[in-house]
Amino acid sequence: MAPITFGILTISDTCSHDPTKDRSGEELVHLITDHSTDSGRIIKGYVAEVAIVPDNEFSIMETLTKWSDDAKVNVILTTGGTGFSPRDVTPEATKKIIHREAPGIAVAMLTASLKITPMAALSRSICGIRNKTLIINLPGSPKAARECLDAIAMTIPHAVDLLL
Ligand code: MTE
Repeated sequence: MAPITFGILTISDTCSHDPTKDRSGEELVHLITDHSTDSGRIIKGYVAEVAIVPDNEFSIMETLTKWSDDAKVNVILTTGGTGFSPRDVTPEATKKIIHREAPGIAVAMLTASLKITPMAALSRSICGIRNKTLIINLPGSPKAARECLDAIAMTIPHAVDLLL
């Protein structure tokens, strides 16, 4: 079976100016590709695309569209820009380019996250499908991104199978 292909998109004004500050994108790549220990990796796959864009709707939409339509990755994980600040526009950008919503994935992340912190209620994550690509918004801190991915990792291989 072919490996699941991932795109990891960090959405942050700060990290787009200084990529060395991107801890969350790095953490997500590690969670997918770490082969050194079983505990390091929570889902097995191949990271085909990595990028950092500012909190700008057009830049986010452009990258999500390119990775879905041209690169045809199975799953895009975004990190950041899901909160309440005026610059947080990841959910709005995602909503504009998906063809179908996948609200159960967002509910699963929220349910698991609320057991860890009430602050989880402040993420407005959207999950959905564009063509055959599953797009999942994760929050911006490495800790939050890991906790959310952990909650849904076991559902991703079946979701990808259903989209083929
Ligand atoms: N979800 C989990 N699992 N763990 C967390 O620590 N932090 C929350 C929330 N979701 C958090 C979480 C906080 S404090 C914020 S502000 C929102 O995610 C939005 O984060 P973002 O704007 O960086 O995307």
